[in-house]
Amino acid sequence: MNESITLTDNRNGASVEVPIVNGTVDARAWADLLPGVYFHDPSFGNTSGAASAVCELDGDAGYLRYRGHPIEQLAEQSTFLEVAHLLLFGELPTRPQLNGFADEIAESASIHENFHKRILEGFRDDAHAMGVLVSSVAALSTFYPDGKDVEDPTVRRSQMVRLLAKIPTLAASAYRRSVGNPYVQPDPDLPYTSNFLSMMFRPAEGGYEVDPVLTRALDLLFVLHADHGQNCSTTTARSVGSSHADPYVLLSAACSALYGPRHGGANEAVLRMLEEIGSYDQVDDFVAKVKTGEQLLMGFGHRVYKNYDPRAKIIKETAHRVFEVTGKNPLLDMALKLEEVALADDYFVRRKLYPNVDFYSGLIYQSMGFPVEMFTVLFAIGRTPGWLAHWDEMLTQNSRIARPRQLYTGEATRDVVPIDER
Ligand code: CMC
Repeated sequence: MNESITLTDNRNGASVEVPIVNGTVDARAWADLLPGVYFHDPSFGNTSGAASAVCELDGDAGYLRYRGHPIEQLAEQSTFLEVAHLLLFGELPTRPQLNGFADEIAESASIHENFHKRILEGFRDDAHAMGVLVSSVAALSTFYPDGKDVEDPTVRRSQMVRLLAKIPTLAASAYRRSVGNPYVQPDPDLPYTSNFLSMMFRPAEGGYEVDPVLTRALDLLFVLHADHGQNCSTTTARSVGSSHADPYVLLSAACSALYGPRHGGANEAVLRMLEEIGSYDQVDDFVAKVKTGEQLLMGFGHRVYKNYDPRAKIIKETAHRVFEVTGKNPLLDMALKLEEVALADDYFVRRKLYPNVDFYSGLIYQSMGFPVEMFTVLFAIGRTPGWLAHWDEMLTQNSRIARPRQLYTGEATRDVVPIDER
């Protein structure tokens, strides 16, 4: 079969045959044939903006792989730090490599006391944790000007380690500030996720222990969030990185994109939606409102998945394991009914709307004691290696600055009328 398309300019009959390679056609052939005619694709639904080896997902088949490894196998067998190593450096680590990586992370995890005093304490008491995270990650840029040398792979590597190390510390500090508890310094002897939980919840007088089932569940949630191709925040990261801005402001921009309720903010929105629905017997009424377009069913739908999100499947199973330890989240029955009603309803079936990664994750976070304002922060911790892997990959490819064209729809040229004559 001829794997190509033919473009013909009907104005002059000129034509070009363009090969289809891995489901894409090279836009340069279009540009050569049709200079000054641009492909109009707002939201990039039909545009590949990057060549990437980090992660592969197929929305119709419903699979997700990090550097070729199926998400189900990684979820079963790997820790978040192993997955971060895989995404950042291309391979799952050997045990000595993992130990070395964990040591590097532990050495970089603390943040300067001045950072707590001058930056974190400048926020209002009721500041949303994501707003604090976005600002404090950007503020790191002023502490580490060495990060600006983005073309040096060795410099990039140390910034990636530093960011991966510090993001849980910033996140936990944002939480402790909001509840008025003294900051807890990272403990280099604890594994990554245990250390984060300890920085979050350890009482000032010490003596914090957490059930290993819960630590594993959170680590697994980080694994499931670690990368997802050219999603909104990763596209933002690549776009900012393409101007050669430093990785701290880049990560802050990615966190900002994540914050929105259509993206990572959806886990918080799901919880608020369930609380608003209020009770099991209100589910049908709520679904009716969704069908008239009054509401969105948060935690449902995805630009790419037109099938059950494989991450949601794993999260749903994990939720049951967590609830055996914490007791069942009272909102679970409502969420299960919502899913059941939606999956049987023609509105959702026709639009191929299934639960996504955010539908059940919030129930787990809440049962573990995280306040809703921290949910998207947890997503950000998980996604950090993905953002950084794309940043590093893009700079390795020596890509050009991101600069889409636009379809101008404004006024034609017109004269400026002096202000007093308008
Ligand atoms: N509830 C009700 N209807 C929906 C929903 C929903 N959650 N999502 C999509 N639709 C409808 C939409 O109104 C449209 O209907 P119609 O054809 O009649 O106009 C149809 O389904 C197709 O939707 P779309 O707007 O073309 O979908 P999109 O690809 O532009 O948006 C989305 C994807 C995730 C932004 C959207 O599904 C949504 O807002 N979902 C709720 C928020 C959410 O859970 N976000 C988390 C996404 S997964 C985690 C992540 O990657 O961040």
